[in-house]
Amino acid sequence: MPDPTSSRFLNVLAGTPSTPVPIWMMRQAGRHLPEYLELRAQAKDFLDFCYSPSMAAEATLQPIRRYDMDAAILFADILLILDAIGLDVRFEKGVGPIVETVDSESDLHRAPIEKAVQRLSPVYETVDRVRTGLSEDKALIGFCGAPWTVALYAIEGRGGTDKSTARSWAYTKPDLLKKLLALLVEASAQYLHEQVKAGADALMIFESWAEGLPSDLFQTLVIDPNAALVARLRALGVNVPIIGFPRGAATMLEAYTRQVPVNGVGLDTSIDPQHALQAVPKTMAVQGHLDPLLLIAGGEAMDARVRELLEAYKGRPHIFNLGHGVRPETPIPHVERVVELVRAGV
Ligand code: CP3
Repeated sequence: MPDPTSSRFLNVLAGTPSTPVPIWMMRQAGRHLPEYLELRAQAKDFLDFCYSPSMAAEATLQPIRRYDMDAAILFADILLILDAIGLDVRFEKGVGPIVETVDSESDLHRAPIEKAVQRLSPVYETVDRVRTGLSEDKALIGFCGAPWTVALYAIEGRGGTDKSTARSWAYTKPDLLKKLLALLVEASAQYLHEQVKAGADALMIFESWAEGLPSDLFQTLVIDPNAALVARLRALGVNVPIIGFPRGAATMLEAYTRQVPVNGVGLDTSIDPQHALQAVPKTMAVQGHLDPLLLIAGGEAMDARVRELLEAYKGRPHIFNLGHGVRPETPIPHVERVVELVRAGV
């Protein structure tokens, strides 16, 4: 466990603003780093990489060594939970994830939850190794996908679709969808609890596909399951801070922050800082939200936007991050420049 007074990141999540603000980036580990590509080439496939604690721990630590980020995020994937509950998950080069789809209720009972949570034990081993290798002033973030985002992959079978099949389920198969979400709430709560027992200092729940839902479905598919997951974690005795990331929440951001009792909220690229300032309670940390494409472009425009975001959230608990993940084509010097600007506190 890091000393609570020495981690800027944990202080901010406790509601205390910090100067300089802490920084880390979603997908900070991964293909924009040559050292990751080298390590990745040694694994049979991406799942094998995620289930190999020595490789996954090394990948988690690479961006900390290179950029001195304030937080490390566990190297794993939100889709491991689907593999653990017994669905076939593959990652194909150039295509992305391919998941065996859920068609009926019997698909929800392939593996008992305890067995699924046990199957993910290499991930807990990774957490343990990373925490041992991190200094006290750095925090380790464990994570999972939010129920709706993970369910989407189990219904659509892949990413990059228009998600209409999954959304239609809310109208045509509401009971099956409800059961799938409830299964994911329970399995994810136990999975995150194990990550915390292994040494995670904070948790993040990725609702990457909250966009485009009518407000009643945003309530039942996003807010209610996220709130249930947080409540279940607290009931299990998990007391580390939790960050929610309702990507694409748009005008529903305020409803999310009022009803999901997270300690911090990840803002996406499209949110206007002035909107965030009034939609997010003052004691809740805001995390974000530089455009990952501006990080690729770099230059004066990037510097100006970094300063603008720092200025906008001055006096509020703020963690600097992107509005979505680092892309493979991101130049390393641009990441270094952002870290330098944030550390300078301009
Ligand atoms: O640095 C980190 O952020 C830690 C590791 C991490 C990965 N995936 C590694 C990964 C995290 C936190 C995730 C979360 C994740 N995975 C999300 C939520 C965050 C987001 O981006 O919205 C989602 C939607 C996924 C599902 C997923 N995994 C997709 C759609 C893909 C293919 C697209 C792509 O970027 O390749 C993956 C594969 C994946 N997950 C890679 C990495 C580094 C690339 C695989 C490789 O190296 O071959």
